Amino acid sequence: MVKKVGFIMMALLLVVLSACSSSGSSDSSKKKTIVMGTSADYPPFENVDTKNGNKIVGFDLDLAKYVADKLGYKLEVQNQDFNGLIAALNSKKVDFVMAGMVDTPKRRQQVDFSKTYYQSYQVVLTRAGTNIKTMNDLKGKKVGVQLGTTQETLAKKVNKTIPMKIQSWDKLNEMVEAMRTKKLDAIITVDTVAYGYTSKDKNLEQFKAVVDGKTQYDPISAAFPKDSKLTAKFNKVFKEMEKNGKKDELVKKWIVNQ
Ligand code: ARG
Repeated sequence: MVKKVGFIMMALLLVVLSACSSSGSSDSSKKKTIVMGTSADYPPFENVDTKNGNKIVGFDLDLAKYVADKLGYKLEVQNQDFNGLIAALNSKKVDFVMAGMVDTPKRRQQVDFSKTYYQSYQVVLTRAGTNIKTMNDLKGKKVGVQLGTTQETLAKKVNKTIPMKIQSWDKLNEMVEAMRTKKLDAIITVDTVAYGYTSKDKNLEQFKAVVDGKTQYDPISAAFPKDSKLTAKFNKVFKEMEKNGKKDELVKKWIVNQ
């Protein structure tokens, strides 16, 4: 009897589910697709959830999904190395990029940016118990940075006064593994990304990358091909999300503060 009831319930559930999904898919097939370029090696902004069918998840993904939905688009995600994202925009392989990317004057020569949607700052991530506590301690050390990032630019600048052995890697998560196994002494990244690691792993530590007495901010924006109509549309929804609490909700969901 219990089995039979269970079976009926399951059958009902399936009918309901298929009704939902078929109406969902016929609806979304009418929608235009918008392609987001990202580099899913940068939690909590984006990373591959290996426990969940290798889906790409994160703060940027949830923001992008919300915006796409509001603008009536179906969102498709293209994952690639960070260093090729500007080229992907230029060749229109992607419609926009959300990848924890900073709006810099140099990048602005090639692409457009939305307003800043998250403020982060640069930090040094190391193993706990090393004697690397300040930027000066990086002298002579093997320091990892992600290729084509503002962290690579900072490392090159710092290198002029504090010579280090800089290594540029394609993927941030692979650098963290290399540091755990002592192939690297330190990594320059941002506070938010580092907290994701140091809050879960007592063997890792971080400190603020203060250079010339200044905090090195890394303000994050979405990027678009030059003159894309999407820039203004995204800005509008970003503003709405700030007012209606959606942005705060997503910050709480994804971002560990200290
Ligand atoms: N904020 C830095 C930059 O704009 C690094 C971003 C790296 N992003 C990533 N998804 N790996 O250059």
